[in-house]
Amino acid sequence: MNIDPKMDPRTFWEEIYEKASPQTSGRPSAILERFAKDRPVGHALELGCGKGDDAVWLARQGWTVTAVDISETALGYARANAERHDVENKITFEAHDLTKSLPDGLYDLVTAQFLQSPVEFAREAVLNRAAAMIATGGLFLITSHGSRPSWSWAPEDTVFPSPQEALDALSLDHTCWRQIAVDNFERMATGPKGEKGSVIDTVIALERL
Ligand SMILES: C[S@@+](CC[C@H](N)C(=O)[O-])C[C@H]1O[C@@H](n2cnc3c(N)ncnc32)[C@H](O)[C@@H]1O
Repeated sequence: MNIDPKMDPRTFWEEIYEKASPQTSGRPSAILERFAKDRPVGHALELGCGKGDDAVWLARQGWTVTAVDISETALGYARANAERHDVENKITFEAHDLTKSLPDGLYDLVTAQFLQSPVEFAREAVLNRAAAMIATGGLFLITSHGSRPSWSWAPEDTVFPSPQEALDALSLDHTCWRQIAVDNFERMATGPKGEKGSVIDTVIALERL
């Protein structure tokens, strides 16, 4: 896939989702499930919700969710996903370019699962702003790609930061956070055409002190 990194992010993601099927896996991200399943429920903010499987899973666990994406098409798929599972009244979907605005509020969970983009995206700045929106005792859960499976868009020579490098790239005050995990996790994954392969997820899980 030939991607112009200077492309307007909204146009880029709209085109991706317009070409995509509204169908979803129906499963949450493995890391979200692993780290959120035993936490007390509250108000969650999802950054880059895509077609909404994570927001729906959180709502079904009892969370109230604010789910954000830049793509109105993705948000339309996500709303329909929530309606199919009867949790539309537990989720507020909001369109934001996160580099420009975030929803208001204080959250018990902020989740960013693969909030990554091949076009211009000031990801660390967005994550730093979101960190300030987490209540005491709340969880900040960030997962990013730590490997390049055969179906990846990432260039072949992509160098993936270690979990510690990914954490260091955020300007967090370490005295305000308890580290739950700063680690790589390996799992089997399925690509968009059904390809199977092992992938590494780079995970930062921090609890606000
Ligand atoms: C790689 S996808 C991950 C989607 C979903 N979290 C998942 O794990 O399947 C990245 C998501 O971030 C969204 N996104 C990219 N740039 C954004 C921005 N500037 N503001 C808000 N959302 C953005 C995209 O529309 C897309 O849904």
